[in-house]
Amino acid sequence: MGSRTSLPPGPLRVENVGVSLGGTRILKMVNLTLHAGEMCALIGPSGAGKSTLIKALLGLRDPDEGSVRMGSLSLAKLGPVGYVPQDDALHRGLTVRSELAYAAELRMPGTSAEERQSRIAEVLAQVDLVDRAQIRIRRLSGGQRKRVSLALELLTGPPLLILDEPTSGLDPGLEARTMTLLSQVAGTGRIVLVATHAMESIERAEALCVLVGGHVAFFGPPRKALSYFRVDRYAELFRQLEKQSPSSWGLTASADPDQRAFLSRPGPALSSAAARTSEQGSPTSTDEALDRLKAQMVSPEAS
Ligand SMILES: Nc1ncnc2c1ncn2[C@@H]1O[C@H](COP(=O)(O)OP(=O)(O)OP(=O)(O)O)[C@@H](O)[C@H]1O
Ligand SMILES: [Mg+2]
Repeated sequence: MGSRTSLPPGPLRVENVGVSLGGTRILKMVNLTLHAGEMCALIGPSGAGKSTLIKALLGLRDPDEGSVRMGSLSLAKLGPVGYVPQDDALHRGLTVRSELAYAAELRMPGTSAEERQSRIAEVLAQVDLVDRAQIRIRRLSGGQRKRVSLALELLTGPPLLILDEPTSGLDPGLEARTMTLLSQVAGTGRIVLVATHAMESIERAEALCVLVGGHVAFFGPPRKALSYFRVDRYAELFRQLEKQSPSSWGLTASADPDQRAFLSRPGPALSSAAARTSEQGSPTSTDEALDRLKAQMVSPEAS
């Protein structure tokens, strides 16, 4: 990872967020905590509010209630968040390399051509598109185009990367590889939030958020969702959601001791002292804490 990329200044905390649109409350009392190095899968039936939550996190839509912060910073102060929309906005006539070069010039002001070249080479390798670099985007497959969109966001190494259904329309093999790639991106010390229908790959995420009717029906480690909803497979979970009202799912989740503990869990690699200084945003201690975090990330312990 290049030194110019920035790591999260502390955990992402979504607290009691509510969003209303056209007089209707679309999201109610959403609470999430995500630490550097974690990927969160966001699932829920159509209309549950996934895209609305993503827009609130991007700062495109102010929450009417509650707050979104990263460490001690409000999202407005955090700077650009990486965002891969469902429909890409690529220039079909450009080659992969020239699309990246064009974006790098816009997004990496003050860098030399050599620095940009080497960053482009890095992200091309990261998304496994080195051998497609000279191909025009219109000749790429859907999955390859999604990886170009992801590569564009990786150029600047944002501390928070949000993707809205990056695997829709991909075959199961490619879907799984994309989720693995995103998990690797999180492993470089970033926070990745991905709205997905890729049920088979959900266990690659450290956290799962299940939204229904604007309420969080579950937020915790993916495996715990299976026992919580009393299902064997993630795909069966949607049928369970129909058995209670969204607000009653929301109430049950917010009263569940396991889920409450998950919301206030400490970061995976920060000691509590480092986490405290990191949340206060003191530059030196944050850097030290992040260095320690990065060192521990080199040897990931789990799946
Ligand atoms: N601008 C708007 N004004 C009023 N209601 C809206 C607006 N945008 C979205 N909604 C409503 O908010 C709810 C949540 O929409 P959202 O797009 O967040 O759902 P989603 O979970 O992303 O669904 P999908 O899986 O279909 O993408 C839906 O009921 C939708 O009709
Ligand atoms: Mg959506």
